Amino acid sequence: MAERLVQVFSKKQIASRVRELGAMITASYAERPQPLVLVCVLKGSFIFAADLARAIKLSVRVEFLGVRSYEETTSTGVVQITQDLVQPIEDCDVLLVEDIVDTGLTMKHLLGHLGIRQPHSMRVCALLHKPSRSKVELTVDYVGFSIPDLFVVGYGLDISERYRNLPYLAVVEGA
Ligand code: IMP
Repeated sequence: MAERLVQVFSKKQIASRVRELGAMITASYAERPQPLVLVCVLKGSFIFAADLARAIKLSVRVEFLGVRSYEETTSTGVVQITQDLVQPIEDCDVLLVEDIVDTGLTMKHLLGHLGIRQPHSMRVCALLHKPSRSKVELTVDYVGFSIPDLFVVGYGLDISERYRNLPYLAVVEGA
């Protein structure tokens, strides 16, 4: 069966929600004296993080963390760090920017991995959250959209490295 993309969030809906998230984050960190460290979790959040960074009206530092945990559409439960942060985060306000929190295993692992570096604070911003799939206790501080148990692609998210460059979010039927 041929693959068919079914849009779940349009380019316009995403842009509007990213602006709202940026405003919320700006208000939350406005009183902090130091730059906010945005940790872009690769690869899936590269587009989201680029847009979110521009929607935050504060001084920010951007770091990249490479992570791998999925094979095709299934979480392996094993989180592999493929690229670590370059700069220290000790005493910093850190915001982890993730494309999607599914089982929560990846984010739980990352919070532990970075927590031992003693940041001043650490919060999570995810474009998408699938609460029904959650396997661990986890607070996602800023959520773009909560979705049911669907596998979505586009706006940075992939299926076997495909569809990351779609400007909207979609479900792939027949994959
Ligand atoms: P978790 O560890 O199960 O929360 O999975 C987190 C990672 O799995 C995300 O950062 C994504 O890379 C990937 N992932 C989970 N669900 C989806 C999806 O619906 N589409 C694309 N990637 C997904």
